Amino acid sequence: MNLAIIGTGYVGLVTGTCFAEMGNDVICVDIDDHKVEQLRDGQLPIYEPDLDVYFHRNLREGRLHFTTELPEAVAASEVIFLALPTPPGEDGSADLSYVLGVAREIGALLSQEDDPAHRIIVNKSTVPVGTARRVRAILEEAGLEAEKDFDVVSNPEFLREGVAVRDFMKPERVVIGTSSEKAAETMQLLYEPFVRQGNPIFVMDEASAEVTKYAANAFLATKITFMNEMANLCERVGANVDQVRIGIGSDSRIGKHFLYAGIGFGGSCFPKDVKALAHTADAHGYDFQIIQSVLDVNDRQRRLLADRAIDYFDGSLDGRRIAIWGLSFKPNTDDIREAPSHVVIRRLLEAGAEVAAFDPEAIETTRAVLGDAIDYVDDAYAALDDADALLICTEWHEFRRPNFEKMRDRLKRPLIFDGRNVFNVDRMTDAGFEYYSIGRPQSAPDVVPTTMVNGTTERSV
Ligand SMILES: NC(=O)c1ccc[n+]([C@@H]2O[C@H](COP(=O)([O-])OP(=O)(O)OC[C@H]3O[C@@H](n4cnc5c(N)ncnc54)[C@H](O)[C@@H]3O)[C@@H](O)[C@H]2O)c1
Repeated sequence: MNLAIIGTGYVGLVTGTCFAEMGNDVICVDIDDHKVEQLRDGQLPIYEPDLDVYFHRNLREGRLHFTTELPEAVAASEVIFLALPTPPGEDGSADLSYVLGVAREIGALLSQEDDPAHRIIVNKSTVPVGTARRVRAILEEAGLEAEKDFDVVSNPEFLREGVAVRDFMKPERVVIGTSSEKAAETMQLLYEPFVRQGNPIFVMDEASAEVTKYAANAFLATKITFMNEMANLCERVGANVDQVRIGIGSDSRIGKHFLYAGIGFGGSCFPKDVKALAHTADAHGYDFQIIQSVLDVNDRQRRLLADRAIDYFDGSLDGRRIAIWGLSFKPNTDDIREAPSHVVIRRLLEAGAEVAAFDPEAIETTRAVLGDAIDYVDDAYAALDDADALLICTEWHEFRRPNFEKMRDRLKRPLIFDGRNVFNVDRMTDAGFEYYSIGRPQSAPDVVPTTMVNGTTERSV
């Protein structure tokens, strides 16, 4: 099939590449000239495991094309995917200007064709309920006739950065929102190669498909937030959230995933999607209380690690050097959008610290945002030199089994604040570290166990 993907970011590039891998002819469009040039030259602008193999093969075999020219892509394609940004507006609502703007451009292009061939416009961006209806209205205003000239489909994307290719190639489910049988049939044909093991393709109405995406993200964000609150309670009552997690996760009604306590969720999706859902509820006169709490608790949780370090040093980090391990919002990506590490770093800087940071993939994306406000190092141990403490913000695999002796030697003092519960508490005590993590007993060789008061750490030595 001839496909166009409009917007060649994390979702668009993975979508385009994976569809090409199944034999489709794909034209990816982006307004970013530099990105398109890079892609045509065979360079990937993002880090995403496994993407390079499929990308290079399909580029080489001529099934994957990149352009800045929307008309070229629209003219050549029967299905047009919109994988455009939907960032949060000032009031938290999803900014639909990219999606609706491109819909207008497509409407104008199709209306210039004599007797336009039928097109399916597929919304892959995460968009509020009612957007498919708005896209259809825009195309109708351009003089096109729904069903005869075009159909609009809502096809939310559930891929996770870091495992995006695997998720796209073997989705647990595909959701297709449309009232058109013809469009549903074409979409099923497109996705069948990805669900050969029997995972379902759900066809539903557009509004339900649009809400499904927000419901999924909001539910997952709530699950994480619940565990973070549970962790904070565990600290106060002397329980260990890791044990609690195992205790509840074995219940199939609860499930094992998304139960890890930490310093809050981030990334390009959860924060903005939860805010957008809150906004939708508000706009429809519904007080969606749990969602607002999730946002409030997550804001507090993202400040926790830095506040602990600042309290440890009696409120000021003047003259202190702090090492950071992990900048990306989660492992296996270079994406730093809404990363908790950035909340941590900003607070450390405000408290007067010098910061030295290491991340296996996200140094350049961070440098583009924070510039020279912090030092960047290209190996984890180098960040520790002369540092008064190490703060762990992302649980990259390579942080799990480091050389502790080397860490102790290079740190000015053996002090770790772990926002991702990467290490075993007892082993850290044995290794001579003062070690503070989330929702677990604190390990401090010659320090009486920590008590938590009002979310801050009080040490009694
Ligand atoms: N990133 C994820 O993990 C993920 C997962 C599921 C859904 N989503 C949703 O998918 C959508 C896209 O997310 P993303 O992370 O890929 O965004 P992104 O910012 O990585 O990519 C968007 C791309 O669109 C391009 N663009 C902007 N305006 C354009 C235009 N007029 N024409 C052509 N290209 C244009 C940008 O240059 C950019 O390359 C969002 O709605 C997001 O919520 C994202």
